[in-house]
Amino acid sequence: MRIAVLGTGMVGQSLGRRLVETGHEVRMGSRSAGGEKALAFVAEAGEGASEGTFADAAAWGEVVVNATGGLVSLEALAAAGEENLAGKVLLDISNPLDFSEGFPPKVVQPDGRSLGEQIQSAFPEARVVKTLNTMNADVMVHPRQLSGPHSVFVAGDDADAKAVARDVLVGFGWEADEVVDAGGIAAARGLELYLPLWLSLMGSFGTPSFNVAVVRAG
Ligand SMILES: NC(=O)c1ccc[n+]([C@@H]2O[C@H](COP(=O)([O-])OP(=O)(O)OC[C@H]3O[C@@H](n4cnc5c(N)ncnc54)[C@H](OP(=O)(O)O)[C@@H]3O)[C@@H](O)[C@H]2O)c1
Repeated sequence: MRIAVLGTGMVGQSLGRRLVETGHEVRMGSRSAGGEKALAFVAEAGEGASEGTFADAAAWGEVVVNATGGLVSLEALAAAGEENLAGKVLLDISNPLDFSEGFPPKVVQPDGRSLGEQIQSAFPEARVVKTLNTMNADVMVHPRQLSGPHSVFVAGDDADAKAVARDVLVGFGWEADEVVDAGGIAAARGLELYLPLWLSLMGSFGTPSFNVAVVRAG
């Protein structure tokens, strides 16, 4: 697939490289084309990788990934263009964390609404799936580095969009039964509110290389 990755940070770089490795074409988007990080991505990822503005990337992509800072995601997606997101699967990896008052950060959910829900409301024709926000960037794309089964969540209102997300995740190395359907996009509330616990666990373990596993009866 042609996948637009909006965001040039650690997450955009990891996802972009792994998407190219797993057979997709990737265009990385940022505020202005030709930035240092986007060009470094293109040079490293090689054939199948390109870069441009948020709008260039979103217009080109069949699937769009939001890997921008959580507090600026609505701004970045507005720059990507509502018309360029309409009808497309929008994988939202972002976490709305406010570090302005130090650590631990606050999860910003105005009126209790998650960023995933706010994105879905602001871009009603996009098919938003919240996923991968509950783990470190390297675990997202190389899940088999952890021993034993562990879980990745998908939350969204569109079942077909969640199936597309599942296929991308399986391409990264997730087992199909490790992909846990958390429900509609409102489930993004809990997925984002997990972040303070994730950060505490990272402090206790001294490494970001861990994840949770959901275990069910029967
Ligand atoms: N780090 C992790 O392991 C991890 C794990 C799970 C989820 N996440 C989430 O993934 C997202 C990406 O994290 P990251 O650390 O890779 O990157 P980041 O530094 O949070 O975000 C980088 C991107 O945000 C864009 N940006 C910054 N200010 C902007 C503004 N005012 N308007 C529009 N766009 C703006 C930048 O654009 P330019 O390219 O133009 O500079 C860049 O592409 C975050 O929401 C984070 O919470 C991170």
